Amino acid sequence: MKTLASQKIVDAFNQQIGNELGASHQYVAISAHFATEGLPELAKFFDRQAAEERMHAMKFVRFIVDAGGGVRIPAVAAPKAVFANAEEAVSLSLDWEQTVTEQIYGLVDVARAEKNYIAQRFLDWFVNEQLEEVSSISQLLSIVQRAGDKGLLFVEDYLTRRGGQAGESAAAEA
Ligand code: FEO
Repeated sequence: MKTLASQKIVDAFNQQIGNELGASHQYVAISAHFATEGLPELAKFFDRQAAEERMHAMKFVRFIVDAGGGVRIPAVAAPKAVFANAEEAVSLSLDWEQTVTEQIYGLVDVARAEKNYIAQRFLDWFVNEQLEEVSSISQLLSIVQRAGDKGLLFVEDYLTRRGGQAGESAAAEA
């Protein structure tokens, strides 16, 4: 079967499957941390993030299959499991999102260099998604920072009132 993506793109997308699954595992670990700390809304927030990252990984899997390439999922490093406080955990997730944004830009560069318009169109969705994810987690981080360690029940209340969402653009999520 003729493939719609070069081996270079397939390799880079396979790598991204690992990155998205790595983010998913990290968010499961953060969710478990909050659940252990008796903060169910923060736990739910990161549960949802974990599910979204898995869905992102699955989009890359689907693309590779549809493009006629071979799916080769790389090893995924163990996530960080222990956090000194809520700020450290949320900060780590913001670092992840900023890293993923750079990774997506890198994939766009590869697709552009090869004039692979199908891959570019596919990646547009991820570029938009990163805006929403970085903004939502930045917002959560500033709320957690403002509340401080003793004010985490306010963060729980805030998330409950907003249906579990942190950012403004989150409401427009598909
Ligand atoms: Fe798949 Fe949160 O980036």
